[in-house]
Amino acid sequence: MLVAIIPGDGIGGEVIAQARRVLDHYKKRGLPLETWDLDLGADRYLRDGTTYPPEVADRIRGEARAVLLGALGDPRVPGLEHARDILFGMRFGLDLYANVRPVKALHDRLVPLKDRSARDVDLVVFRENTEGIYVGMGGQFKRGTPDEVAINEDVNTRKGVERLIRAGFEHARTHGRKTVHMADKSNAMKHAHELWHRCFFEVAREYPGIAAKHVYVDALCLYLVQDPSPFEVVVTCNLFGDIVTDLGAALQGGLGMAASANVHATDPSRVALFEPVHGSAPPLAGKDVANPIASVLTVGMMLAHLGWPEEEQRLERICTRAIDLRMCTRDVGGELGTRAVGDWIMSEVEAGR
Ligand code: NAD
Ligand code: IPM
Ligand code: MN
Repeated sequence: MLVAIIPGDGIGGEVIAQARRVLDHYKKRGLPLETWDLDLGADRYLRDGTTYPPEVADRIRGEARAVLLGALGDPRVPGLEHARDILFGMRFGLDLYANVRPVKALHDRLVPLKDRSARDVDLVVFRENTEGIYVGMGGQFKRGTPDEVAINEDVNTRKGVERLIRAGFEHARTHGRKTVHMADKSNAMKHAHELWHRCFFEVAREYPGIAAKHVYVDALCLYLVQDPSPFEVVVTCNLFGDIVTDLGAALQGGLGMAASANVHATDPSRVALFEPVHGSAPPLAGKDVANPIASVLTVGMMLAHLGWPEEEQRLERICTRAIDLRMCTRDVGGELGTRAVGDWIMSEVEAGR
């Protein structure tokens, strides 16, 4: 199974270096994994203008089973051309319509809410990943004049909305979750989110054992901070999913703890993209302070996707112990550097714990 690795920019390289050690361990231990290192990101773009070449896209589509991505975004490329080509090239180009983002706190200490514990923070956000305002349709008119106009179209198709919603319900069904919430702004976006609203309750009828609840996304942000415990699965559009999962990351202890998978949920044999939720965090880059746990948990999601769910559980247990024993970076209450956290995690992984 070919796994393409794109460390990317900023702290991406530092956290992926640690995640990669975990992957290499599984390779050595006999899992049929083969890694393929890709030199893509801001450095490459600035060197020779390459963003996401068609021959790489073709090999990823044709031969890879998974891609592990660090993060993309570099102050030297203020227009983010490379980031969009690579990230959206994969999300859109491979039709990875479900961006699955678990919001799970591994330890009470990480939960910033008053009178709440880790037990209260355990939900999964299904973010639509191929449509919405991210499609880049639109344009600018009279740019640079007092009359300028800027438009980004919000594209929602029946097919796109329905398959994402169904992926959320399927996840609930297969993971013993009892409730799916759909977050929209149908009170303001009367065309696009009326479609979401109608489609949600239509799909819900196919899942009689699962409670289907609607919540406006602004209220969802309120409820998540007041008491996240009623939420199990949340389905939402591309932009809201992006925003809600950064809020969710805060409930987990920060972006250094949040993992994600981008999948074509109806055909899991297709290549999928795995990345921590965080970005390239330029102010942290090169300082050995970035938390590698999100990337290690992301490798866990990848291993589960490839058929080894027990290894995902093992990595989650190890990361939980790292937090508990303060064998972690400063953002989550430890004093170790990125590499030292990787060393500790590797010693646990190698000891088979
Ligand atoms: P960011 O996620 O890089 O950082 C937000 C905050 O979280 C910062 O305070 C940062 O220090 C902290 N943080 C993030 N990851 C951390 C980690 N592993 N350990 C400890 N702290 C961590 O978001 P930003 O600052 O808004 O964006 C920086 C760049 O990254 C931008 O160019 C943005 O477009 C890009 N970005 C890329 C991706 C991606 O490639 N998937 C995701 C988000 C942002
Ligand atoms: C994420 C990021 C990206 C997104 C950016 C880098 C375009 O914030 O993966 O959460 O908005 O999807
Ligand atoms: Mn984001």
